[in-house]
Amino acid sequence: MEIAAPEDGELPGLAAAPAERRRRARELIECGALVLRVARRDGRVLGACSMYVEVPAGLANEVGCAPASWRWLQAAHAALLTNLEVAPPWRGRGIGRALVSALAVAAAAAGARELAARVTTDAPARGFYSRLGFRRRLGDAAAELWSLPL
Ligand SMILES: CC(C)(COP(=O)(O)OP(=O)(O)OC[C@H]1O[C@@H](n2cnc3c(N)ncnc32)[C@H](O)[C@@H]1OP(=O)(O)O)[C@@H](O)C(=O)NCCC(=O)NCCS
Repeated sequence: MEIAAPEDGELPGLAAAPAERRRRARELIECGALVLRVARRDGRVLGACSMYVEVPAGLANEVGCAPASWRWLQAAHAALLTNLEVAPPWRGRGIGRALVSALAVAAAAAGARELAARVTTDAPARGFYSRLGFRRRLGDAAAELWSLPL
């Protein structure tokens, strides 16, 4: 298995997004503010994740970041993981961990001091993040912010 930047069309959600959103994502990727990674084996994508090295103020709402979370990310110099998903048949084999590790390395290299993730309060992913060393930093009724020092 390899962890790599996605090739064109490998992320169907992004390929189907409105042209304006794709253009903006391309710009953010080119300037290093947005990092996308896929886990691939034999040409098949088994999982994917993205990360904003710094969430632009204008995108906080779009990525589901409440104002208090956004302020916390800024103050902590935290990158934000988004859209982490491993295809159901491939879960429990270390792919999620490999994706998060790759993005943690990229975040640290870009100067981030923490790697954060939004976790909805009913998400089983809480156990996953906890296992990887993330800790809950703040939260409200809808979502919690968990983070890993880099
Ligand atoms: C959460 C998710 C990404 C985990 O990916 P994965 O490839 O199955 O996770 P891994 O196999 O890398 O697991 C890494 C560690 O976390 C543990 N873990 C994984 N899911 C867990 C869970 N739900 N509860 C407790 N621990 C969990 C594993 O046991 C493993 O521990 P170990 O390394 O000590 O053996 C995957 O289950 C998924 O795509 N879920 C649906 C989407 C989602 O919830 N995304 C996160 C949004 S906040």
